[in-house]
Amino acid sequence: MNASFPDGFLWGGATAANQMEGGFYEGEKGLNIADVLPGGKERLKILMEPGFDFEIDKTKYSYPNHEGIDFYHRYKEDIALFAEMGFKAFRMSIAWTRIFPQGDELEANEEGLAFYDRVFDELHKYGIEPVVTISHYEMPINLVKEYGGWRNREVVTFFERYVNAIFTRYKDKVKYWMTFNEINSGLMMPIMGLGFSIEKEEDKYQATYQAFHHQFVASSIAVKACHEIIPGSQIGCMIIFAPVYPFDANPENILYAHQEERLFNNFCADVQVRGEYPAFINSYFAKHGIELDIREGDLELLKEHTVDYIAFSYYMSRTEKKEKSEMEQAQGNILAGVKNPFLNASDWGWEIDPTGLRVSLNKLYDRYEVPLFVVENGLGAYDEVEQDGSINDDYRIDYLREHITAMKDAINEDGIEIMGYTSWGCIDLVSASTGEMSKRYGYIYVDKHDDGSGTLERKKKKSFFWYKDVIATNGENL
Ligand code: BG6
Repeated sequence: MNASFPDGFLWGGATAANQMEGGFYEGEKGLNIADVLPGGKERLKILMEPGFDFEIDKTKYSYPNHEGIDFYHRYKEDIALFAEMGFKAFRMSIAWTRIFPQGDELEANEEGLAFYDRVFDELHKYGIEPVVTISHYEMPINLVKEYGGWRNREVVTFFERYVNAIFTRYKDKVKYWMTFNEINSGLMMPIMGLGFSIEKEEDKYQATYQAFHHQFVASSIAVKACHEIIPGSQIGCMIIFAPVYPFDANPENILYAHQEERLFNNFCADVQVRGEYPAFINSYFAKHGIELDIREGDLELLKEHTVDYIAFSYYMSRTEKKEKSEMEQAQGNILAGVKNPFLNASDWGWEIDPTGLRVSLNKLYDRYEVPLFVVENGLGAYDEVEQDGSINDDYRIDYLREHITAMKDAINEDGIEIMGYTSWGCIDLVSASTGEMSKRYGYIYVDKHDDGSGTLERKKKKSFFWYKDVIATNGENL
């Protein structure tokens, strides 16, 4: 077998509980943030603007996450399809609200624990390694409303209870963990990651960074507990990485791109991997009047319990200019920036840049020198089911081929250690940013539509057979 990907490379796919499980009222599950987010383009507006009340209003909106793709009942069928593709790993999240429905109970919910036992057992039946995100935009709504989300230090205690419960229960079933999905997304979308809506611009900085501090402490508590309870386990942080390119050689733009990258891409990983606040953040804190409440022992905890690896999502790069007009903004791209003249964009305005993945891998490895895990990457696209039932998603295959090639080059030519690749939404699921079903990423099509209609039937797309061959040849056939 060609050695271009290391033996044991974790090929697979990635998902999140709130975007696929459904079973929203079942198993004593409590309400979480994703449950109160409506479907459709309205969602993005809610996520980016102040004043969200975290209430369900069915007279105005639909809520696609409530049914998801019904993985809660169909996990056996879905896992069998993943096994048919030859998955070595499956990234999924545990819904905190299945284990602690309100978040602040003292005892874990047995029905929730038992559900994930069944899922992990099913994965192991086929030799698929579960890779588990502990918190993927699924904070219990009770912690949002009664405690103010991650702004409140008490939430750290609730999180500690949650991680102890899941590590103890699944210690023989799960070896790979990660703490907070895309932790740095809290800078753009605090509702999903941090559990609160920014009310006034002037509160933004203090609230956001205090909440991050609590998550960093919670992350170190989780790392410590994971290593103690599950010997041989590996636990990572999880960030969005979108390399920031300067628009041109104007030194002002180069400096600006560097500053943006450090603040958005690196800040959280700096703390979680190196175990300390980076020097550059002090002047930023001073400039924005941020004074963190850091308790005795926090800094030692951060230093002693750093993560084992960096998991990251990569969808696009970002191009920046210090002074930009509205006209120049990259349309639809949630990470903003200006349009890059060398790149095409997806139907949702996400600029497609396979080389950017290699750039990201290099930047991350240069800075941290710890193993990297590409846990999200993929193309959200409209798919068409042909008369004969086939789905010919060549555009998706092209996207994935080019990104996997970039990763292969990073391993072989740049000497980077990569643990695995779990492409996003290996089975179609509800989009996180827009709540749409029509933004599809999967190798497996799910018959469900934006208006809620559909049979939920699963169908193999052309990319299903392509990815199966990629895995079978360990990335030799692309
Ligand atoms: C990441 C998230 O931001 O990107 C996923 O971790 C999300 O939850 C994925 O689904 C793709 O984004 P979207 O908005 O297209 O679903």
